[in-house]
Amino acid sequence: MARKLIIDTDPGIDDAVALTLALFDPKLDVVAVTAVGGNVPPEMASRNVQAIIEQLDPPRWPRTGSASAPDAGLPADARHIHGADGLGNAKFEVAELIHRHPAEKVICDEVRAAPDEVTILALGPLTNIARAFQRDPGLESQVGRLVIMGGAVTAPGNVTPAAEFNIYCDPVSARSVFKSRTTKTLIPLDVTNQVPLTYDLLDNLPPETSRGGAFLRRVLPHAFRSHRQLFGQEEIFLHDVVALVAVTHPELFETCEIAGDVETQGELTAGATLFDRRPRPEWRANMEIATAVDSAAVVDYIMRAMKRAGQV
Ligand code: RIB
Ligand code: CA
Repeated sequence: MARKLIIDTDPGIDDAVALTLALFDPKLDVVAVTAVGGNVPPEMASRNVQAIIEQLDPPRWPRTGSASAPDAGLPADARHIHGADGLGNAKFEVAELIHRHPAEKVICDEVRAAPDEVTILALGPLTNIARAFQRDPGLESQVGRLVIMGGAVTAPGNVTPAAEFNIYCDPVSARSVFKSRTTKTLIPLDVTNQVPLTYDLLDNLPPETSRGGAFLRRVLPHAFRSHRQLFGQEEIFLHDVVALVAVTHPELFETCEIAGDVETQGELTAGATLFDRRPRPEWRANMEIATAVDSAAVVDYIMRAMKRAGQV
């Protein structure tokens, strides 16, 4: 039985790669893809979700949900990394956004339709997740599992010295979700930074003749260019793809139960994630967190999943 999955995403190149692998994974039933502002503004995130699904034309089209800005507005974006359009400047044509439903409504509908069966994979700021829980308070206990790419334990932040990007963009929503009753797993930078991807990735993309291959060939090269130009790095980190692998292959990760919270006020520390790692913790554990990953096995899965995405 394929695992029901909702992907909440701010596409972004690493989001787009994660979506490609998920939409062609026969073990996953992606019932919905909901857009959230983050890497790109909300309207562009909604457009990019539609563009990705149109380009990939997966065997089963998921429902889509549209993004709207967090209450406090977005403090940053990442178009300097992902391109002016968020998808490597591929400039995809997109049919007019039709039947637009708010992301949080789509999340509520799909979770309610299959209580305890749906995994939500959050690849961007947690605005939609927090709004879904506010819209339907009983939803928290109906989600099978919430897997979040975000935060940092001892790793430095990537948008400020203290904060990881997804949490930084909407710390109030992140704090609310961290405190929710939902069964949750956090995949922090400490782990996603352990999976560098080299130019081997470009050399092993699916054939241009496949929809997955054509899409990835238009989107991925920009990530390598921006990482070299901005950071002097010859490898890239597809954080969201690592979080997807935590859904499909949790056995490749070590985890522990921990209490986590989010700083929402600090001038220098807004968006920082804090975990009670004292010898005798006093905060009540509220999540599972990934602490280690079998990097080679994750890269192997990515290569195999890309090959599969190139077979249609
Ligand atoms: O910090 C990495 C996260 O921020 C990834 O999800 C990336 O796509 C951006 O959203
Ligand atoms: Ca993302």
